[in-house]
Amino acid sequence: MMRLSANRLAGRRILLGISAGIAAYKSAQLARLLKQAGCEVRVVMTAGAQAFITPLTLQALTGEPVRTSLLDPEAEAGMGHIELARWADIILIAPATADLMARLAQGMADDLLSTLCLASEAEKLMAPAMNQAMWRHPATQRNADRLNQDGWRLLGPASGDQACGDVGPGRMLEPEEIVAALIEQPAEAVASESPTQALPAQGRHIVITAGPTREPLDPVRYLSNHSSGKMGFALAAAAVELGARVTLISGPVNLATPEGVTRIDVETALQMHETSRRLAIDSDIFIGCAAVADYRAEATAEHKIKKTEGEDTLTLRLIKNPDIIAAVADMRDAAGGRPMVVGFAAETRDLETYAHDKLIRKRLDMIVANDVSAAGLGFGADDNAALLIWRDGEAEGGETLPPQPKLQLARAVLEQALSRLASQPVP
Ligand code: PMT
Repeated sequence: MMRLSANRLAGRRILLGISAGIAAYKSAQLARLLKQAGCEVRVVMTAGAQAFITPLTLQALTGEPVRTSLLDPEAEAGMGHIELARWADIILIAPATADLMARLAQGMADDLLSTLCLASEAEKLMAPAMNQAMWRHPATQRNADRLNQDGWRLLGPASGDQACGDVGPGRMLEPEEIVAALIEQPAEAVASESPTQALPAQGRHIVITAGPTREPLDPVRYLSNHSSGKMGFALAAAAVELGARVTLISGPVNLATPEGVTRIDVETALQMHETSRRLAIDSDIFIGCAAVADYRAEATAEHKIKKTEGEDTLTLRLIKNPDIIAAVADMRDAAGGRPMVVGFAAETRDLETYAHDKLIRKRLDMIVANDVSAAGLGFGADDNAALLIWRDGEAEGGETLPPQPKLQLARAVLEQALSRLASQPVP
């Protein structure tokens, strides 16, 4: 089994870019964790970042002078900006503001940090942080897609309470989560360390949804379901074991993130939809294990809904949520390809018939059908059983996986998916 550990970062030269935002205070902890992992860290701050945290703090934590300006003759006399760009193995920007993302997506070089990004061939990652409306804005989403296409890896953002009082996607991932994402090894690096032990998912990116979604009715109530997230988290842990880079998009659950997994928290089906579409296009396999609410309230009440005197009923008007997995199955990249798409079907009767219908209707490659009425299996349980049905394998009638711990079942599902992926590319 492959163990991912922080010493994979030892000796890596990391250029930590910090841009303006309240999350900049977390960059101090990030710098500390990177130093503890054995990295050489040099920090570049934008002008705005210095309003939130001082260069002196970062200098004390890294033991290196902090660069803030492109036009600084003294600093350029030491390590010039082109030398600094060549020095870095990894450029990591945390937090990355909407403005910086826009400038980098345009290839601008109007300050030290953007110039270094343009001049460097290092691996590049960023952890966006901004208000949820700014993150959702089509311009920011366009820039995020552009940066993905240009080879940037976007870590997060996570969803939740924001410093401005809003709730939604836009929170910077925690420093520990960012370091965990960095520890994930590119395939070549793992291969060169253990040439005789190639792992089946090496070099693959697997995106998994897990847990329930929560659809607000008013500030204190929501619609949801009993998914604990255990099945999806087991898939994420098994995918890491098999050598994959794993991104887990999780609804609200009470589970620890498996080692080596990049986790993005969301709450609602709309947030899960947006995050899945953004990340799936860069994946080899997309697995929809989340129990997504099919409906949400047409309007969320601004204040707590009150009981009406004399009325025994309350009518809620619900509207359909988008079908996330069907949307992913319909995506195409520039070359006309898409990830392998694996769905789950939670059924209480006629397992094979209903699951087969979902497989076809949602245009999936494989469906993992589980009977959620069986005692001790399915929702919230530690064990599960399933019937695997492939789109192209109707004559085979599916493969039965008997009751077993969810981690074991997750390994079996992934091994099937990976061997199909190796033998026949998806459309
Ligand atoms: O989380 P646990 O407690 O461990 O429980 C695991 C589980 C029972 C939740 C899991 O094994 C499971 O069955 N997940 C899918 C649950 C579900 O919502 O099934 P469904 O039959 O309603 O949906 C079919 C597929 O469409 C699923 O892949 C689902 O993620 C996807 N879907 C559904 C609705 C929607 N709006 N968008 C979707 O992508």
